[in-house]
Amino acid sequence: MSGSQGTTTGIPAPETPAAALRRRFPTFADLQRRAKWRVARFAYDFVAGGVGDGAPNVAHNRAAMDAVRIVPRYALDVSAVSIRTSLFGRDYAAPVGVAPMGNIGMVWPEADAILAAAAQAARIPYVSSTVANVPMERLAALAPDVFWFQLYGLPAEKHALSFDLIRRAEAAGAHALVLTLDVPMRQKRVHDIRNGLVMPFRYRPRTFLDIARAPFWALEMLTKGQPTFPNMRKYVGEGASLADMAGFVQRNMVTGVTWEDIASFREAWPRALVLKGIQHPEDAAKAVALGVDGIWVSNHGGRQFDAAPASIDSVPAIAAEVAGKAKVLFDGSIRSGLDVFRALAVGVDMCFAGRAFLYAVAALGRAGGDHAAAAFMEEVRGTFAQAGTVSVADAARAAVLHPGAVWLGPPANAPRAPAG
Ligand SMILES: Cc1cc2nc3c(=O)[nH]c(=O)nc-3n(C[C@H](O)[C@H](O)[C@H](O)COP(=O)(O)O)c2cc1C
Repeated sequence: MSGSQGTTTGIPAPETPAAALRRRFPTFADLQRRAKWRVARFAYDFVAGGVGDGAPNVAHNRAAMDAVRIVPRYALDVSAVSIRTSLFGRDYAAPVGVAPMGNIGMVWPEADAILAAAAQAARIPYVSSTVANVPMERLAALAPDVFWFQLYGLPAEKHALSFDLIRRAEAAGAHALVLTLDVPMRQKRVHDIRNGLVMPFRYRPRTFLDIARAPFWALEMLTKGQPTFPNMRKYVGEGASLADMAGFVQRNMVTGVTWEDIASFREAWPRALVLKGIQHPEDAAKAVALGVDGIWVSNHGGRQFDAAPASIDSVPAIAAEVAGKAKVLFDGSIRSGLDVFRALAVGVDMCFAGRAFLYAVAALGRAGGDHAAAAFMEEVRGTFAQAGTVSVADAARAAVLHPGAVWLGPPANAPRAPAG
């Protein structure tokens, strides 16, 4: 991102819009603060919240990330730092992408499309949710080089709808299919219950107060209309109302998928298959045995299970378990380029951020996607140089202190196979 530059007349050139955003919102925390006052409270809480009171697993993800220390190396030539990477046979400009997020049209109209277009422009992976508010076919057209599709299983009739969604994702050109495992059942998210945020949405007196306090957001929502779940339209019927679609989602996404289902999805999907929400190395081993290409370590951003380990703490044991037989993907409190580097250093191949991108869109609307991608690019490059790292492969060799790392293997004093 460039700042103001002098001209030959000596009069400073006006600041570019990108430079102005960089000056006003240098961190994702700045964007989060603006998002908080800009959108209605129930929408902000839907994004920022976890499961139980105080969102302990969200805080845990953050604390564990902060605890990872990198020992820098100096006096190295870092003039040619490259943050490019490749995954599943495709090139990406940076080791960070946009995580799947459902129902984000409630946070800002067209948020899915804004993020898809920004990811395509930056050439970073973009993962569309099953419950996106923009149809997958349109998102794939906006992000043809970087489009992935995330699937929540719909188990009715032996997964007939899951298989149809898989066929549509293939036809739309998705480069990878991400199967989310960590929502075996919808959890009781207490902040959403208190805010009346249930499907279909119910207006209560406090809702009107929330809306009145967020006039920019209210105007956008009024002019663009309430978000729907268009990937489901084909199954619910063309004339389906918002309530019909919400009811359909609620009735059909009732349980998760089993290892048997995963084996059949593997057969049906010809490109890269990723399992998202893995935290136990034995689950990673089962996935590898079924021919899965990527293990996405995640605790759903702390939104499902308050007792789960922090996501970053689960990485080392899983990376050791898969040991190059599958790629390791990761999300959980990625809020800066430094966090991306931390994840790479503990064994991750590709990181994803959810809320960081969404706060940027909530704060800045259409400009938010590009701003977030540019901020990540700048920060990742700067962190590489500061740590004495010149490439993504090099980052995996950084010296790390990782106090919280979960180790579920044999006890430390048990005999181990010789290294080699
Ligand atoms: C508003 C919101 C909606 C989400 N919806 C989905 C979803 O539809 N499918 C999914 O696999 N994960 C979903 N997630 C989880 C994200 O993909 C990701 O795991 C999480 O946001 C990562 O943590 P971070 O937000 O701290 O970066 C959602 C997260 C948020 C914040």
